[in-house]
Amino acid sequence: LDVPSWHGIHRFRFTIYSEANRRFYCETAGNSERNKRIVMTATNSTTALAHPNIALIKYWGKSNSDLNLPSTPSLSVTLSKLTTKTTVSTNETDVLYINGQSVQDEKISKFLNSLRQIHTIKNIRIETENNFPTSAGLASSASGFAALTTALNSHFSLGFSKQQISAIARTGSASAARSIYGGFVGLQGPDWEAEPIFKPDYWPLRIVIATINTEKKKTGSSKGMEITRLTSPFYQSWVSEAQKDFNEALTAIRNRNFDKLADLSEKSCLKMIATMISSDPPLIYWAPATLACIQLIRDLRNSGQAVFFTTDAGPQLKAICLPESEAKVMDSLASVVGSENITSCEIGDEAKIIQN
Ligand code: DP6
Repeated sequence: LDVPSWHGIHRFRFTIYSEANRRFYCETAGNSERNKRIVMTATNSTTALAHPNIALIKYWGKSNSDLNLPSTPSLSVTLSKLTTKTTVSTNETDVLYINGQSVQDEKISKFLNSLRQIHTIKNIRIETENNFPTSAGLASSASGFAALTTALNSHFSLGFSKQQISAIARTGSASAARSIYGGFVGLQGPDWEAEPIFKPDYWPLRIVIATINTEKKKTGSSKGMEITRLTSPFYQSWVSEAQKDFNEALTAIRNRNFDKLADLSEKSCLKMIATMISSDPPLIYWAPATLACIQLIRDLRNSGQAVFFTTDAGPQLKAICLPESEAKVMDSLASVVGSENITSCEIGDEAKIIQN
């Protein structure tokens, strides 16, 4: 490390050794004995926190699976309250724990392998805790890869900018590129780099989540997208209309035009679902209660409440509403799924390091 100025000495070189007791010794190139050995108390693990995000305009389908490039632009809001905390530490072999359980994850192994082709990342222990259901259509892979990339960047001093962290997170899971940022976030071509568009407080929408079933989905997003791309007769129309939906939704958000955003967002969701259910084999992520919740949201909207729905690759229903409709929406959805299965979020912040 070259330190510009420290105790009046310019350009100082350190060699850092770690010991099993997790203290670090810095040996300096200075010539006085006093400077030869400095003991720093430091821990050798890094924890990052990231929030999942919900797409109002959906990404579904890839133009390049190796680079994980989407075929459709997407526009999301980052969620407060729901969190993934990921701690990385150097280890003898790679190990992964999700919510305390040791697991193997093909996507994470592939992600680490490709990162290691370019950067020096040793074997690591990854411990991830989600305070919401994992792999059940609540964007745990978005917050997961966002937290992991943020933690790796800091732990191994990779020196990436926020934009680069987001681009790397995208290779793990494209929606993760959006979770690096807070507020309203876009992800569009030709570079497929996520871009923070508006801060969380630009428009204080609420996202009410009705959790219908917390089981892990049978067909993961990447596989589901590939089945859809190859077999759905509606896939080309879905892709060709997506940029227009994205542009119009962006304008609706800029103008805080709730009704316009509601129409565009519900249509984007339903078009995506239409490609899924028209695939071979059909991908049906909804449960009967999902439809019951959709009907209820439509009734609320018809009765004058500012609310619309969206769903992803899972049965959970997300209702986006203005703050004045939040209580009514929560109560109504609770009548279908029970109040213990309702969570309301504000628009959340960017991914960050919480312990280093
Ligand atoms: C339905 O980002 O999980 O939630 O890039 O293959 O990991 P991979 O997919 P992922 O897909 C998210 C799909 C979605 C819509 C969205 O979030 O835009």
